[in-house]
Amino acid sequence: MSEPTIESILQEKRSFQPPQEFSQKAHIKSLEDYQQLYDQAKANPQKFWADLAQQELHWFQKWDTVMDWQPPFAKWFVGGKINISYNCLDRHLITWRRNKAALIWEGEPGDSRTLTYAQLHREVCQMANVFKQLGVQKGDRVGIYMPMIPEAAIAMLACARIGAAHTVIFGGFSAEALKDRLVDAAAKLVVTADGGWRKEAIVPLKEQVDKSLANNGAPTVENVLVVERTKQGIQMEPGRDHWWHDLQTGASADCPAEPMDAEDMLFILYTSGTTGKPKGVVHTTAGYNLYTHMTLKWAFDIQDTDVYWCTADVGWITGHSYIVYGPLSNGATTLMYEGAPRASNPGCFWDVVEKYGVNIFYTAPTAIRAFIKMGEEHPKARNLSSLRLLGTVGEPINPEAWMWYHRVIGGERCPIVDTWWQTETGGFMITPLPGATPTKPGSATRPFPGIIAEVVDLEGNPVADNQGGYLVVKHPWPGMLRTVYGNPERFRRTYWEHIPPKDGQYLYFAGDGARKDEDGYFWVMGRVDDVINVAGHRLGTMEVESALVSHAAVAEAAVVGKPDEVKGEEVCAFVTLEGSYSASEELKKELKQHVVKEIGAIARPGEIRFTEAMPKTRSGKIMRRLLRNLASGQEIAGDTSTLEDRSVLDKLRGGS
Ligand code: WT7
Repeated sequence: MSEPTIESILQEKRSFQPPQEFSQKAHIKSLEDYQQLYDQAKANPQKFWADLAQQELHWFQKWDTVMDWQPPFAKWFVGGKINISYNCLDRHLITWRRNKAALIWEGEPGDSRTLTYAQLHREVCQMANVFKQLGVQKGDRVGIYMPMIPEAAIAMLACARIGAAHTVIFGGFSAEALKDRLVDAAAKLVVTADGGWRKEAIVPLKEQVDKSLANNGAPTVENVLVVERTKQGIQMEPGRDHWWHDLQTGASADCPAEPMDAEDMLFILYTSGTTGKPKGVVHTTAGYNLYTHMTLKWAFDIQDTDVYWCTADVGWITGHSYIVYGPLSNGATTLMYEGAPRASNPGCFWDVVEKYGVNIFYTAPTAIRAFIKMGEEHPKARNLSSLRLLGTVGEPINPEAWMWYHRVIGGERCPIVDTWWQTETGGFMITPLPGATPTKPGSATRPFPGIIAEVVDLEGNPVADNQGGYLVVKHPWPGMLRTVYGNPERFRRTYWEHIPPKDGQYLYFAGDGARKDEDGYFWVMGRVDDVINVAGHRLGTMEVESALVSHAAVAEAAVVGKPDEVKGEEVCAFVTLEGSYSASEELKKELKQHVVKEIGAIARPGEIRFTEAMPKTRSGKIMRRLLRNLASGQEIAGDTSTLEDRSVLDKLRGGS
């Protein structure tokens, strides 16, 4: 097993046709149908999206203007009034779906729960009324720091219902990281749980919230709503902390959905960038609703009889778009699982597939590679015949992992949709449509209708077929981020100026390298900025560096990605120490722990290397390229003539 290198994917020649039986029943049945949709959307994007918005969503009031594009700021469906919670719940209640399973939940200790659309609607209304009672109003922000339990989705939908924006903070983030996000968003309320189950242990979520709020850490937070999950006993601060089950008892189940402006903020989701501070990606209501709805419908071919399971956490965009909003807007049955595969339970995912007869399964390459290591006997021992479609997301999938997924999990009958997208894009951008697009292992294939993607050089000129370049998007789309919360300049700089606009044409810069082959298929190579991808999680190298230098022993830190068989990449940190500290195994451990405390376990360095000096250019820039070579155990490649002090290289090679 290896990373997809340019060489390996250039050699990839296999291709798989959509199975005929699948195509016949699919929403999009042939390549011709795809091409027709694609061409229509390209010729008249506004008509394309407006027709779908009319057909697929409920509006309290129709829009006046489909798209208002003042580059780089886009507005969609201006003047329209809509509520995504209404589209995810209320509109299904007047159909047979009222008693259909909306959310199937499988808990880690083996408990489970199924909520029908009517039941989910009821709980969302109750929580929305509790929010109001706690002083939350339209336009406020609510932090959600939750385990993978139904109340996480309920809290998101309750926010949307009353027009408060949520910011979900992944439960694996530390109290520090939580505090930063609550402060940046100026959250008024935090919804959390006493704890969550992670493998066999309890994650003390409420305790982390307490830490983040201590010493007036996040002064805008007035109340904390706590869901009981692990029952280990926690401190409740009178006046500030409230049990959900106490307030739910008295809460009315009647809470009409607030008619929202199409462009009202739906949520903020923080993601890592090239600077030390994560940025708050802003998504708004109508465009995001339409885009997640359509992409799920066509790329996952969602049907009313399907049980659909996305294994992501709701703390990431995948959970937002494809556990909660996309599936529920389509009236689908979405499955939520609290557990995680591990050595002591290597078959747990396949037990869930068998137990619920899962039809569509969506996971990350890192998980697939972990399953390969655990052995095919585990999936083989379960009945996976219900599966009809597989999806992958988060990082490039190496063709070997793709083939294993196809053969062992998909029984050679399930199409695989490799979906390329980002927190910023809201939904899938480049993806096969499974009844239409022939697939090639390792390629996300072709853009979704309405998406004009290109591979260009730094001046914005398209590069030749099979040449590497930068992945860009040429025309606004409904699901795109609208800004960086509180920082429109950062939004402009990060996404729209990296490659300067040419002849008034703005190019959205994704931060990924890619090539396009002779069939117009995209092969995404991975990040070209200072972002690394650890087990499908995006981490800013500067973020980890800031965490390291906040430790008294560290004078300077440089973080690079190091190839890892299962995780794709892992964090490798080069560290120079303050004069009075000396290198030791103990200190390495302490520094790793320090990063966990500052950011969370996802950022824990796999390797720390102490060095006397960093390789720098004469202008003082750390030459990360050289560090990447060293971290991956390769010889130093490329030009080293700009290095200020060449003896640093020998010291680095001998480093511990
Ligand atoms: C970055 C975005 C979008 C949900 C999960 C991650 C990488 C994502 C693919 C794919 C190759 C992929 C890119 C992208 N990525 N999907 N199918 N093939 N690379 O969201 O945390 O915003 O990360 O993940 O590098 O830029 P995210």
